[in-house]
Amino acid sequence: MGDVLELNLLGSSAQFAHVLAQIRRIAKFDVTVLIGGETGTGKELGARAVHYLSARAEQPFIPVNCGALAESLVESELFGHERGAFTDAKNASSGLISQAEGGTLFLDEVDTLSLKAQAALLRFLQDGTYRRVGGTQVRQTDVRLIAASNANLEDLVKSRQFRRDLLYRLKVMPLVMPPLRERGNDVIELAQAFLDRLNRDYHGQTPVKRLHLDLLNALRRYSWPGNIRELEHFIQREYLMCDGEVMRADLQPDGEVPPPAAESCNANAVFKQAKARVIADFERSYVKSAMARARGNISRAARIAGQDRSAFSRLVHKYRVAPQTEQEQDSADC
Ligand SMILES: Nc1ncnc2c1ncn2[C@@H]1O[C@H](COP(=O)(O)OP(=O)(O)O)[C@@H](O)[C@H]1O
Ligand SMILES: [Mg+2]
Repeated sequence: MGDVLELNLLGSSAQFAHVLAQIRRIAKFDVTVLIGGETGTGKELGARAVHYLSARAEQPFIPVNCGALAESLVESELFGHERGAFTDAKNASSGLISQAEGGTLFLDEVDTLSLKAQAALLRFLQDGTYRRVGGTQVRQTDVRLIAASNANLEDLVKSRQFRRDLLYRLKVMPLVMPPLRERGNDVIELAQAFLDRLNRDYHGQTPVKRLHLDLLNALRRYSWPGNIRELEHFIQREYLMCDGEVMRADLQPDGEVPPPAAESCNANAVFKQAKARVIADFERSYVKSAMARARGNISRAARIAGQDRSAFSRLVHKYRVAPQTEQEQDSADC
């Protein structure tokens, strides 16, 4: 069973070794787990590892994205419903909790549950019993619950959007997946693993590719707000765009060194940084594309962007978008 971790969860940094050790330990105890961490850090993969390393491995692992369920249907999806419980309930349905019988139910984006659904979940966690929507029979089931959220649940408790008693119930075993930018050379290891997979998948269709040293350095300097998911997509996109054998890729360092440990615990600071990065990325590519369309003429590009010239010119300098010569533009068009 140890293979499951080795196969899926890559990374050799000390930070990640700590997470792996926690996963192995948590898997042994049949308790509720709450997994935190930014988007794309591997929360779902971590939940699967806990399940497949546990005594429940042979039983189902049922993932549910709470954020994707319509609010009015959450309870019936989770707990099932009786025939006629609501307009569309033509037949009775058993619900996901019952499908996970003997195994693990993974509630992703648990912070998006309505207060009503939170109350029902709390009841279920307290004694393992539940009722179908529209039903009176009290049912019992043996399911391990793993919940995940990238929100700061303590803050949501303060603003009364999340029940404190539910948070305590979920948080018996907290597990936090670290952001990629704080995992040292794991970014290189993961990029290489994604590249190896692409080289295998596209064997014979395109030359075997490798990563240029400059790109490796850029991977380390970039802050990866979308974490491993963003890295995976980035490598895939660049792989498909690269005709040669060496992938150089243009990955602009966003100039942010990994935040100091104290700050990384502060969700608000992390949010602000992520937001600033998204805005900067957007502005940079917007300015670049307007400048390309205006063939490097700042006044024309400002008109295209619907901005006054001096404000636009500041952005051009901020992002160091060089006014292009007509010649460069022509070759870029090819
Ligand atoms: N340690 C890891 N090793 C390899 N791939 C990983 C690792 N962690 C996450 N991934 C991959 O990154 C992507 C995002 O992971 P996921 O578990 O969905 O993140 P989250 O639930 O935190 O948003 C998935 O494709 C997953 O397979
Ligand atoms: Mg997820």
